[in-house]
Amino acid sequence: MAINDYKQNIANAIAVATNLNAKTLKEYIEVPPDSTLGDYAFPCFKLAKELRKAPPVIAQEIKQSIKIEESIIEKTEIVGGYLNFYINKEKLVTTVLEEIAEKRENFGKQEIGKGKTIVIDYSAPNIAKPFHIGHLRSTVIGGALYRIYQFLGYTTIGINHLGDYGTQFGKLIEGYKRWSNEYNIESNPIDDLTKIYIRINELCKQDESVLEECRNNFKKLEDGDEYCIKLWNQFREVSLKEFQRVYDLLGSKFDSYQGEAFYSNKMEEVIQKLEDTGKLVESEGAKIVNLDELDMAPCLIVKSNGSTTYATRDLAAILYRARTYNYEKAIYVTSYEQILHFKQVFEVSKLLGLDEKYTKGLIHVPFGMVHLKNGKMSTREGNIIKLEDLLKEAIERVKIIIEDKNPKLKDKDDIAKKVGVGAIIFNDLSNNRIKDEIFDWDQVLNFNGETGPYVQYMYVRTKSILEKAEKIPSIKEVDFSKLLDNEAIQIIEALYRFEETLRQVIDKNEPSILARYLIQISQSYSSFYNEHHIIGEEATVQNARLFLTYACNLVLKTGAELLGIQMPERM
Ligand code: ARG
Repeated sequence: MAINDYKQNIANAIAVATNLNAKTLKEYIEVPPDSTLGDYAFPCFKLAKELRKAPPVIAQEIKQSIKIEESIIEKTEIVGGYLNFYINKEKLVTTVLEEIAEKRENFGKQEIGKGKTIVIDYSAPNIAKPFHIGHLRSTVIGGALYRIYQFLGYTTIGINHLGDYGTQFGKLIEGYKRWSNEYNIESNPIDDLTKIYIRINELCKQDESVLEECRNNFKKLEDGDEYCIKLWNQFREVSLKEFQRVYDLLGSKFDSYQGEAFYSNKMEEVIQKLEDTGKLVESEGAKIVNLDELDMAPCLIVKSNGSTTYATRDLAAILYRARTYNYEKAIYVTSYEQILHFKQVFEVSKLLGLDEKYTKGLIHVPFGMVHLKNGKMSTREGNIIKLEDLLKEAIERVKIIIEDKNPKLKDKDDIAKKVGVGAIIFNDLSNNRIKDEIFDWDQVLNFNGETGPYVQYMYVRTKSILEKAEKIPSIKEVDFSKLLDNEAIQIIEALYRFEETLRQVIDKNEPSILARYLIQISQSYSSFYNEHHIIGEEATVQNARLFLTYACNLVLKTGAELLGIQMPERM
């Protein structure tokens, strides 16, 4: 039996009673802050204008004429201008648990995205530069969206739009030519390439002719010079190898690594198309699209020295992705520092002659910056923290906690990895993405806080209860009337909201909604567990509570994995 959509049922019934549109009515329905006021509330004042009646009168009239099956809504009550609905709890318990028993790991899965493709552009570190904590956020948020869209039936394409192109490669090539024998690029690629890059920049400042050489190198690279391409390839490969270590730790995968360089031969078309519209204008030797009318800085397409820009490549990528993937939405996950960039690019993309569907589907998903509580982890000047160091530190710190609390634990290394990495991921996802984040180890690894380790701990607890009972009851053994206490109902209501929660995540491209949800399930289960015995109770009670435990176990795991967090089976 499928789960009832209560809001829909209520909206339909009010629609019949008032002759108004069910879709709009549904949007008005609220969940009261206090459950004594019912499970759903309809704010009748929203209709006062249209119906030309006072809200309490409207409430009274709806109450009298509304027809909803008693097995779904038990009673309705008027409080002020609200009509409150009390759902039939036993029916709720039955349908939710039956659905979970039937779907198991697939509980929550939906097909709303069937036949639609979502392109997600995320992670995108820059070649020969450190993979820093900002890229972590992009990787983690993008990865979560990727899996959640997929779970809801969309075809998802994850693209790692690597920063592997641009004039800086001319400089790197020059530095490499001069000093490669002084460094050990194979074993320490990013550190050494960064050093070379800093050094060549210094030299360029002192000596204009070196800068000229660098420009030449980039030109040669663009023209396909063998030596330059060989070096470029080498930089790309060694960097990717290093990034891959981070991706392995995080469990990140991409369908495409077509970075900026991939578009090097695809920008001509963009420039031509823009020329054709007459909107590409000369300005101090450069070519720009003026966006004054929208109160935006102009979008720079070709620099005065003839080279293309980050924006030009993004425009070429839009053309390519529209044609290749026929996307419904193309999502870009970067820090909010790039808000203007994407506004400009999305605006200019309207001049490329694409079907409106594609330009409308472009979505920038920005996130806040990460600040450190104390600067200790910075590895070099500036506050650049290498992500690999951060993840390794998390794992080490968890190992120390395990040694302290549970030294006899089996598979300590594997568990420390899951908990350490999971803690970092959860921390990144648990707050509204646009907020800046203060990174604080004590908070990230707090087993009692609203953290990854807390969710994992509650999962492990459900698991160990089921193991101790040595059984997961079948749904036929569950007497639903044994799950009507407040704590059980709290959990069931939360489980009921799982599907809707996932839809909210993609509506707002906000994985934190799922992270908060997992905290809520964990806390609800914790209250239930503190209030009620499970093992050793009379058989019908025990079975009912065990099944509820199993349901939490399943949903915690499904939800955490959608966020990219692995669950340990012990801890
Ligand atoms: N490489 C860029 C950076 O590190 C992010 C690229 C984002 N994707 C894009 N299509 N522009 O800031």
